[in-house]
Amino acid sequence: MVTCRICRQATQEVITFGPMPLANGFVQRVNGNDYVFNLGVVFCPSCFMVQLTETVPADKMFNDHYHFMSSTSQGMAVHFEGNAKEIIERLGDKPDPFVVELGCNDGIMLKHIAVHGIRHLGIEPSGNVADLAQKNNVRVLKEFFNQKTAAQIVKKDGQADVICGSNVFCHIEDINSVFAGIDVLLKEDGYVYFEDPYLMDIVKKSSFDQIYDEHVFYYSGLSVRELAKRHNLQLVDMVTQDVHGGSMRYYLKKGQSNPVNPRVEQCIAQEKALKLDQMTGYVAFKDNVNKVCKDLKKVLQDIKQVGHRVVGYGATSKSTTLLNYAKIGPALVDYISDNTPYKINKFTPGMHIPIKSYEAFLKDQPAYTLLLAWNHRREILEKEKEYRRKGGKFITFFPAVTIE
Ligand code: TYD
Repeated sequence: MVTCRICRQATQEVITFGPMPLANGFVQRVNGNDYVFNLGVVFCPSCFMVQLTETVPADKMFNDHYHFMSSTSQGMAVHFEGNAKEIIERLGDKPDPFVVELGCNDGIMLKHIAVHGIRHLGIEPSGNVADLAQKNNVRVLKEFFNQKTAAQIVKKDGQADVICGSNVFCHIEDINSVFAGIDVLLKEDGYVYFEDPYLMDIVKKSSFDQIYDEHVFYYSGLSVRELAKRHNLQLVDMVTQDVHGGSMRYYLKKGQSNPVNPRVEQCIAQEKALKLDQMTGYVAFKDNVNKVCKDLKKVLQDIKQVGHRVVGYGATSKSTTLLNYAKIGPALVDYISDNTPYKINKFTPGMHIPIKSYEAFLKDQPAYTLLLAWNHRREILEKEKEYRRKGGKFITFFPAVTIE
């Protein structure tokens, strides 16, 4: 039995994918030595948190060889510049404000805060991406965030007006310690925001590829409200984000008597309508996941059988779950094109599909392209207008397999 990481109560199984390599465990050569763990998801009926069954030690995922770079998509660059603008607007004329970002990655957001001369600090344990942030003139602390780190920051810089994190709160197994740190670091009138893939989007679209080692938690309004309450914080707003295939931004403030935007109740009502507060809400999800895998594999096999080639577009972290669970390897997908220099000439975790440069894709112009980076669909279809005009087809798979 798996106990809930938040409230220590018994959880119930949602889905088990079996042995799985690390989502960012790209390998230099095909030697069969991938680190594997058991990937599965459970639901806590007491505090509504959906979470991984088993967690991989953080230093195996977020180390000096971390492959995830935020600044590889134009859409994400625009998104994070917008986040910085919102922070600056909300700070208004507060004297000498201090902004802390947890998991600042390569500084994609904080560089826009830094350029305004606003006091800031990025917390980033992955050394190689933290170095890139420093090159972007972002002040960085290469640590994991918790109560102890929070106390060190307060001693040196004072308390923070804003604490934020994008696609990082879902990464942290001991999220209770992060919230305890926030209690130490946040000013009484400060606010927290964090954004992560939204559970309701995952369930509605069957987009199970969001489930991988780095995503320990799959947040909803239901679970964040409970988590916040435990740490004397209050969920005061929720705003949907059109990134990562459907994300939610949660705003929190200290205390329990802040004005709450009616959107919070509306979102939670929608979650309850889908029964995400009970096990029954998760039963169909498992069947839908298995259907997507079966259908996708069949489509790829049919294309191969008539003599066409398929290549992948975007060696995403999330495609590790899809490719390994559906058992899609180099026999069905020749290679995956990606614009991240660190990934090129490596092989995908587990299935060992070769990764090639974007230039290779442009030269190759394959008949079919599996859109693994489906979360950037709009940006990529726009960029590849010419490919499609010449007859190239994209294969997408959530909520159902489609060729377009
Ligand atoms: P990302 O959206 O960060 O998803 P994940 O969190 O699952 O890794 O990954 C997108 C990947 O796709 C990244 O490796 C960069 C690549 N990519 C391209 O190669 N070309 C593009 O035009 C875009 C938008 C992304």
